[in-house]
Amino acid sequence: MPPDYRRPPPVKLASHPEPVTVRAPAKLNLHLSVGLLRADGFHDLTTVYQAVSLYDEVTASPAPELSVSVRGEDAPLVPLDDGNLAVRAARALAAAAGVEPLVRLDIVKAIPVAGGLAGGSADAAAALVACDALWGTAMDRAALLDLAADLGSDVPFALTGGTALGTGRGERLAPVLAIGRWHWVLAVAESGLSTPEVYRELDRKRERDVALAPEPLDSLINALRSGEPTSLGHALSNDLQAAALSLRPALRRTLDAGEDLGSTGRVVSGSGPTCAFLASSSDDAVRLAAALSGAGVCRTVRAAYGPVAGARVVTTTAR
Ligand code: C5P
Repeated sequence: MPPDYRRPPPVKLASHPEPVTVRAPAKLNLHLSVGLLRADGFHDLTTVYQAVSLYDEVTASPAPELSVSVRGEDAPLVPLDDGNLAVRAARALAAAAGVEPLVRLDIVKAIPVAGGLAGGSADAAAALVACDALWGTAMDRAALLDLAADLGSDVPFALTGGTALGTGRGERLAPVLAIGRWHWVLAVAESGLSTPEVYRELDRKRERDVALAPEPLDSLINALRSGEPTSLGHALSNDLQAAALSLRPALRRTLDAGEDLGSTGRVVSGSGPTCAFLASSSDDAVRLAAALSGAGVCRTVRAAYGPVAGARVVTTTAR
């Protein structure tokens, strides 16, 4: 039986006056085909997400008013006002539940900002789950997923995790069977790319260039079922990759270095600029991560595996 994405969340839904810490994973897009620009400014897409073991943490604590702090990777780049997706998530949940958004959110980031890894979406999903537990608002899973979709295209996936097919603008999810554990090496670039700019560049390219046929999804789905890294490596694809490369030509060197160093597959993640390399085993991932670090083609390298679960409570202070 495929997992039921509408099952109740595995968090305690009683009012919780103690701080609640939730961690939420980064995502990769193993397949991303981008369709037409819609009237609402989004593109229809078909994507296969995988959640990987690189996590942001959000701690929600009782407080007389809403406030937020950010520490860790790229913290100075994260807004502390209503531009912060975790703050928006807390406000949205409070409004939906009819409570005051009285919470302090402390975010610890390990997911690079503007890296194509949905770090902001992870923070939003973590804030939803943490505030739901803190306030005892007991939102059902479907309502939480609706709130998540309003916050951003990737936020529902950050709640569910695993491996999933995303349609619509990415927010409509269906589980995908993925056998075993996949080992990834992530090459994080010096600075981020703006997602709307990458989509705009794709639209411009499509006006100029001959449109290519979309990559077939079947081979990727079959590869995930086979558990076989070589098949998955061949099946990785991303329509946004060409747009990210034209905005950031240096990424070509990063992708080529991963190929020369023997990665099993490679793809720009989402709107980039993070490049994801598939390794054939955990040992191979360690080897590849060390070799890529030495190649000087990115700011930093991270090894991660997937699939992992979506946003989950990890600690609550004992009473
Ligand atoms: O949904 P999210 O806030 O993450 O989207 C950020 C931006 O990325 C959107 O404003 C839009 O420009 C672009 N986008 C898109 N089509 C999608 C998802 C995102 O054009 N399916």
